[in-house]
This record gives sequence, C-alpha cells and structure tokens, in this order.
Amino acid sequence: MAGNSFGKIFRITAFGESHGMGVGVIVDGCPPRINLLPQDFERDMARRKPGAYHLGTPRKEADQVEVLSGVFEGLTTGAPITLFIRNRDVQSQPYEVLRSLFRPGHADYTYFKKYGHFDFRGGGRSSARETAARVAAGVVAAKVLEPSGVEVTAYTLELGGVRAKAFDLHAIDKNACYCPDPAAAKQMELALSRAKEDGDSLGGVIEVRVKGCPPGLGEPVFDKLDGDLAKAVMSVGAVKGVEIGAGFEAARLKGSENNDPITPHGFGSNRAGGILGGISNGDEIVIKAAVKPVPSIKKEQDTVDRQGQPAKLKLGGRHDISAVPRIVPVLEAMVRIVVADHYLRAKTIG
Ligand SMILES: Cc1cc2nc3c(=O)[nH]c(=O)nc-3n(C[C@H](O)[C@H](O)[C@H](O)COP(=O)(O)O)c2cc1C
Repeated sequence: MAGNSFGKIFRITAFGESHGMGVGVIVDGCPPRINLLPQDFERDMARRKPGAYHLGTPRKEADQVEVLSGVFEGLTTGAPITLFIRNRDVQSQPYEVLRSLFRPGHADYTYFKKYGHFDFRGGGRSSARETAARVAAGVVAAKVLEPSGVEVTAYTLELGGVRAKAFDLHAIDKNACYCPDPAAAKQMELALSRAKEDGDSLGGVIEVRVKGCPPGLGEPVFDKLDGDLAKAVMSVGAVKGVEIGAGFEAARLKGSENNDPITPHGFGSNRAGGILGGISNGDEIVIKAAVKPVPSIKKEQDTVDRQGQPAKLKLGGRHDISAVPRIVPVLEAMVRIVVADHYLRAKTIG
C-alpha cells in the first residue's frame, strides 16, 4: 500500500491500524540539535485524543508518544525520528459485522474493492486513529518552525450550521468545540447533543491561519504552497473541501473586486489568502476545510454484503457525533508539516 509518506525534505512516513499494536510515524529530514522531549507531545496529543470531550467517542486512549529513535540526550540527532503511540483501549467485537457488510460513508467498500483483504477492526488503516501519528509529527514540525516565528492556529468556524461570529483566539481552548466564539460554541454543543439524541452526526468548517510566514515559501509548479496545503488538508479523513483565501467566493467576484491592492506598506486586503503563484506573499495564510458529518450513525442504513446482496445495518462501536473538534489539532499539525518542509526547502536555496 503506497501513499503513506509525505513531504520532500521534512518527510513523514506513517503506519499503524486502529486495533493493531498502535500507530506511529517516522520523521526524516529533521535538522539536528533541536530540543525534543516526551512532554513536548502532551498538549497537542491531548487536544486530539479520543474521549477528550463528552460528545466525542468514549474510546479512552492515553496517546502517549514513545520516541524510539532520532533523539539523544533531549536533542534531535538528524537521524530518522520514530514516534510510536500504542493502542490500549481496543474493543473489536462490535466491528465483527464488518466481515460481511460495508458501512455507508466509510472506506470499507473501497478498501475491499482495491485490496480484497483488509483489517476492518475499528476501520483499520482508514480509521481516524492514524491522525494521532500526524499530530505527533506536527509537534516536531512546530519545533523546526520555532526560530522562524511562524504560528499556526486552527479553530472551528462552523459546526452543525452554527457559525462563529466573534473571534477571540483565547476562547478556542476554553470550549469543547475549539471555537473562537464562546456563544456560538454553546449553540454548537446544543446541536451536537440534539444530533446524539437523534442517533445522527454533524459536519462543519475548520479555519487554519498561518501568521508570520515569510514571503518565498512554495515551489512552482507542482509543489506550490497552496497545492501542498490542499493535499495535506484533504488527506485527512472526512475533509471534503479546501479553500485558500476567498476560495470559492472568488469565483463570483470580478477581478477588480478580487485583486488585493499592493501598497508600499503591504497588501490592502487578503483575498489571496497569503499565497500568489504558489508562493507565500508574507501575508497571513488562510485555509478553510469542509468536514462531512461522521458516517457512523445509530440510524439503520441500507447497504450490501461482500456478495452484493442488499442488507440493513445498525452500527455499534464508539464514535464521535462530529469529527470537527478532533480534526482541529490534526489540521494544525498538517499545515505545520507542510510549512516546515517548505521552510527547509527555501533554506537550501538561500
Ligand atoms: C479525527 C477524526 C475523527 C473521526 N471520528 C469518526 C468517528 O468517530 N466515526 C466515524 O464514522 N468517522 C469518523 N471520522 C471520519 C472517518 O474516518 C472518515 O469519514 C472515513 O474514514 C471515510 O473517509 P472520507 O470521509 O475521507 O471519504 C473521523 C475522522 C477524523 C479525522
């Protein structure tokens, strides 16, 4: 199964399944002499981990990162860094039904058609469990970016149709939805509780902002910064759309409305979202991701078995009502990984 590596200089290779031994990632290309301690992973891993908020999956994982290589006496050595996160709270029994039936909206059908054999327990490789490895790699990327002053912040802009209107970045970590608008966060939690009662699920929109990115990151024509960011964000399960800057709204504007005026003091607006011609322009990079409602719902659904015979499916197992809050730290990590890779690439050409 190819497709588990990402990045050119700062290159990650992820592995593991939901109900196997664990998940992990090898980070290659990290410069030497960067401080990296086991406790550096704690905050970001805690923000993503299952069971972190009451309307998420009740699966309880410590999500402790074991550093197996590449760090000596608290400093990176330049060798590949192997990060491993053990699976501890595994309950495979509710997934036995997936030996024969495909879950609508999940990857079971396509994995079966492609590979003919796959670990279906808890979703196997297609499970969101793999995103723990991305978050761990994102912590290393943040360390690489530290001297550059680049800051990446993600938050829930919209959940279940409720949109944030206020933007207090200090409020993000003070509510379960990671929303910068405390009043909207309350409405989002209400929408999640209602969806839970209905046996249903909700989607939403996450915004990621990159502050302090210097001009000049991005490699035209195939490794444009916006192209790599879109791939990184879209590679996260349940993400179904990515916008940079004005995004789809730009399609409805005239050139005179969409162009950002250039002044001696910088850009007069930021509809470009901080990227022109695939290269960062020094302005804030703004990315939006559309997240679908999680496919595992308690309602009965139509499906087929492996022989193509019609069947009804009512799912057990432990699930989020919405993946949106848990994807917030995952997108922060993915964006840090892309920016760190391009930062190191830019340094090699001075
Ligand atoms: C952090 C995170 C948590 C998720 N939690 C769940 C969940 O509890 N239940 C579920 O059905 N899907 C969940 N998903 C989404 C599925 O993994 C995803 O929809 C599925 O693998 C199909 O892939 P696709 O939606 O990208 O096509 C989650 C995704 C992420 C990234």
